[in-house]
Formats: sequence, C-alpha cells, structure tokens
Amino acid sequence: MIASGPHPLMERLRRRVLSPLFDRLGYDLVPAVPDWTHRPTSAPEIESLIAAACASLMRDLAAAALPPPPGGVRDAVETFWELIPGAPVRQRRGGSGFNGALQLYVAMRALRPRSVIESGVFRGLTTWIIRQACPDALILCHDPDLSGLRYRDARARYSRDDWSTADLSDLDPAETVAFFDDHVAQARRVLEARDRGIARLLFDDDAAGHRIHAHGGPAHPTIAMIASRADRSEAEPIRWSRNGRLFTQAANDPLLREAGASIARLHPFDDLHGATGYSPARLTSVTLDLGGRR
Ligand SMILES: C[S@@+](CC[C@H](N)C(=O)[O-])C[C@H]1O[C@@H](n2cnc3c(N)ncnc32)[C@H](O)[C@@H]1O
Repeated sequence: MIASGPHPLMERLRRRVLSPLFDRLGYDLVPAVPDWTHRPTSAPEIESLIAAACASLMRDLAAAALPPPPGGVRDAVETFWELIPGAPVRQRRGGSGFNGALQLYVAMRALRPRSVIESGVFRGLTTWIIRQACPDALILCHDPDLSGLRYRDARARYSRDDWSTADLSDLDPAETVAFFDDHVAQARRVLEARDRGIARLLFDDDAAGHRIHAHGGPAHPTIAMIASRADRSEAEPIRWSRNGRLFTQAANDPLLREAGASIARLHPFDDLHGATGYSPARLTSVTLDLGGRR
C-alpha cells in the first residue's frame, strides 16, 4: 500500500504563494505528511531497509532482555511495513514517526502485555500502534488534552487525569506495560510505576544531557540522566537553552538517585535512522527492581 501525499492543488498553492510568504516572515511551511509517506518501492531496497531494521531491533531486544515477538522480529517488521501506510493518524510533528512507531510496535509485540498504560496520547497514533501489536490488551490512555484525537480506540479507557491517580484495581501489574510519552519528568514516572508495582516501562524522548536541547518539552530528569548521574555527585548542573528559554537540571536532584536505585535494567534502543533513513527515534526500555513491592 502506498500512502498518499498532500493534495496536488494545495501543494502548488503552498509552493508558489504560501511558502514564500511564510519564508519572509521567518517560518517554514511544510506539508503535514508523515515520514512514512516516502518509502522505497524497489524490492532490493525494501529488503535492505527491512533487514537492517530487523538486525538493529534484534540487538536491542536482546540488550533489553525482551523476548523476540511470537513469529520473530522479521515477521513483526514486515507486518508493520504493510500496516503503517494505513495508519489513521497522519502527523509530521509532535508525535512518533516511522522509526518510533516501529520500535513501539515491536517492543509491544515482544512484551505481550494484558494491559497497557499510555501516558501522552496526542492524536492517538501510538494508541493505534499498541492496538495493532496487542489486539486483546486493555489500554488506558491518559492525556490532559484529548482535543486533538484522530484515532479513538473503541476498547480503550480515556482519561484527562494523570495516570498516577488512576484506579488500576482491575489490572495485574505483572502483566502491565507502561508507555510514557508525556513530557513529564521520567524519574518521577519511574517512582510512580515502582509504587504501583509495574516493572516494565517504555519511555519515548529519553535524551542525554548533551542532546536534550534538541527536544521541545523535555522530560527531565530523563532516564539517560539517571543513568549518567544517579551514582555520581557532579556539582555542575546540566544546563541548556531552547528557543531562548534556559533550562537547568540539578546534578544532586534526589529524584535522580531514588529513581536510579529502582532501575534493574535499562536500554536505549538504537535510533534506527541508519537502518531506515527516517527521523531518529528515542525509545528506552526500563525494567524496575520492585524490591518486593508487588
Ligand atoms: C509527544 S505527545 C504524545 C505523542 C504520541 N504518543 C504519539 O507518538 O503520537 C505528548 C503528549 O503528552 C501530553 N501530556 C502533557 N502532560 C501530560 C500528563 N501529565 N500526562 C499525560 N500526558 C500529558 C500532551 O498533551 C501531549 O499530547
């Protein structure tokens, strides 16, 4: 299946009239087509892309101590390749692209949870991905702003409240995966999941201190910051600026140490850009040491 691009008339209007106008005002006007609209169409190139993605994902699943999905990684990647052009959410910014969606799909197929907490829904692309990977799972979707939904899952439970206040009494935490893509401090999410007995976590937008300037809505302290700073006592805070705004992450933030002590294993997936050519993804798998909390 080939995904369709922008309407030809709109595209001509954009190129000839609107783009030059926006350019003069200092803005870029680009069509809101998802990156997967562009794809190789010759068999050897499709094969190279799929093989490279499979090799990368196999390494990541092993490093994260996740089992291969039933049917294997190759089957999951090929299925995703067929599915993604039909995604009901078409976004270019603000949510996952091809690589992020592929990583989430494969990780969810590998984890096979009975329930999924999704914090940070936006238009609903990742809800749709989770549903494709886990057709029978109960999905709890949390986002304070659900006004932009383009995909509403008929069997998911939606809430504008923070996930940490949700009633999870009908969920088995041992069979639950929490996926955080919500711009909230990742160290805080680790501790909330620990307190609720949920050990399997996936984080989008995990960024190290020297890369976080590239993200809008940074969720610091991030998992990468926990990994690099939790057991050290550097006095130098992490500082960065974005759109003229200054940000600081204290090196001695107690959240860093407490969250670090709860993490048994973490693995940032490769960004897949080298394998597929699409925009880099930032998925990190975290497994908690619950210390008898369940
Ligand atoms: C990057 S978007 C999510 C993108 C989506 N997962 C995807 O890839 O298509 C981040 C979302 O987090 C939401 N958000 C902000 N604060 C939140 C909170 N406390 N809990 C859950 N979601 C939150 C925002 O409203 C926004 O929709």
